[in-house]
Amino acid sequence: MATNRTFTMIKPDAVQNGHIGNILAMITNGGFKIVSLKLTQLTVADAQAFYAVHAARPFYGELVEFMSRGPIVAAILEKDNAVEDFRTLIGATNPAEAAEGTIRKAYATSIGENAVHGSDSDENAAIEGAFHFAGREQF
Ligand code: PPS
Repeated sequence: MATNRTFTMIKPDAVQNGHIGNILAMITNGGFKIVSLKLTQLTVADAQAFYAVHAARPFYGELVEFMSRGPIVAAILEKDNAVEDFRTLIGATNPAEAAEGTIRKAYATSIGENAVHGSDSDENAAIEGAFHFAGREQF
C-alpha cells in the first residue's frame, strides 16, 4: 500500500448504534477518499491476531471480546499524510480527552468502546489493510 493510505474500522459499538453513515460522512468530509470498504465481522481468532501487539496489556481480552462481538466496517482510506491526519480526525483513545469535532468525541462512549480504529504508522496501515482486503479489493 502506498504511504498516503491508512486503515480504519468502524467498531461494533458504532455499527450497533447506527453511526456508519455519519462516520463515513465525517471521513469523506475530512478529505479522505475511500479506496476499499466492507461490512464484516472479526472472529475471536481474527481479533486476537489483529491486536496481537497488545497481547500483554491488561485490557487485551476485553478488547478482543469487544471487537469480535458484532459487525464492523473495514476501510482503506487515501489522503496526503493519511495516517497522521486520520489520527487527528478520530481523536484521543479516551473520548473524555477527545477534541471537539473528532469522531470519538461525537460517537465513542468509553475508552474501551471508542467507535473507530486508525492505524498508527504507514507500516501498520499496510499490514492492517492487507489483513482485511485482497490486492484486487484495493482500488
Ligand atoms: S494506540 O492507538 O495504540 O495509541 O492506543 P492505545 O491506548 O495504545 O490502545 C491500543 C488499543 O487498545 C484499545 N484500548 C482499550 N481497550 C479496552 N479497554 C481499555 N482500557 C483500552 N485502552 C485502550 C484502544 O482503543 C486501541 O484500539 P484501536 O483499535 O487501535 O483504537
